[in-house]
Amino acid sequence: MSVTIAGVTMKNPVMTASGTFGSGIEYSEFVDLNHLGAVVTKGVSNVPWEGNPVPRVAEVYGGMLNAIGLQNPGVEVFAERDLKFLEDFDTRVIVNVCGHTEEEYLSVVERLQEEKRVDMLEINVSCPNVKQGGIGFGTKPDMLCDITSKIRKIARQPVIMKLTPNVTSVAELAKAAEAGGADAISLINTITGMKIDIERQRFVLANRTGGMSGPAIHPIAVRMVYEAASAVKLPIIGMGGISNAEDAIEMMLAGATAVAVGAANFHDPYVTQKVIDGMTDYAKRHSLERITDIVGILR
Ligand SMILES: Cc1cc2nc3c(=O)[nH]c(=O)nc-3n(C[C@H](O)[C@H](O)[C@H](O)COP(=O)(O)O)c2cc1C
Repeated sequence: MSVTIAGVTMKNPVMTASGTFGSGIEYSEFVDLNHLGAVVTKGVSNVPWEGNPVPRVAEVYGGMLNAIGLQNPGVEVFAERDLKFLEDFDTRVIVNVCGHTEEEYLSVVERLQEEKRVDMLEINVSCPNVKQGGIGFGTKPDMLCDITSKIRKIARQPVIMKLTPNVTSVAELAKAAEAGGADAISLINTITGMKIDIERQRFVLANRTGGMSGPAIHPIAVRMVYEAASAVKLPIIGMGGISNAEDAIEMMLAGATAVAVGAANFHDPYVTQKVIDGMTDYAKRHSLERITDIVGILR
């Protein structure tokens, strides 16, 4: 069941999607973190961020909207508390990085160079919920290429660029990340949506718009992973609405080397283990020598 991304081997292809699993602490009473391919942490910035005003999550058909706005305690608290907690587990640790400006991204990456427990960096250039930065870097190929190469120059860990689905051509952005020297790409982040309370005639989210995640976005994510895989040679981490092993297998057939489980953790905190078990059964049922034998076989 093991997979290797940019030289980093994980015991299986299943990770958590950033922002849906805390830093692992919050879920460790439900899931044995030692069983996961990797824990991907909530986005971390150079200083603490408060996030957006509430309400900032809402349930919708087929998933949820969120406009958290990347609330986090900042990289110092994160390193002292969350990374320290993760030291005791035999899993890979992928730290998700956010910023408003190039300097902010670079300062977090620089600070994380001191931390031995960080196996890979995932750069969130795709959050639809912060007004400055974030998605601005992820929607313009030149900016994406530029920030990727600047991060690549200072990071000793492999760099995963996390792409947004809120673009016309995800292939173009995947190519820009590859040109900038990314070691891998992950996709998709959430799709911008809106919900209106018709009785109160108000927006449900204080931010008005939010990012859609959950089962309803899965077919879109599979299509985008396929398009990205067809455009670049980089390994891909596929996510978007994965709720069971079948969804995860579909992502790998479309071209993902690994997968991340997001919103599904909220209604079933045990779901990551179920996905691992179901994928192992699939591999046996199809007499696969390695789970990676199915990666991108549909062309
Ligand atoms: C509440 C919430 C918080 C999120 N926070 C982050 C984040 O901090 N950084 C990031 O790159 N993605 C974040 N995401 C996006 C997820 O990692 C994932 O890309 C997206 O939700 C699609 O996967 P899913 O449908 O399985 O949830 C967040 C998603 C949710 C629902």
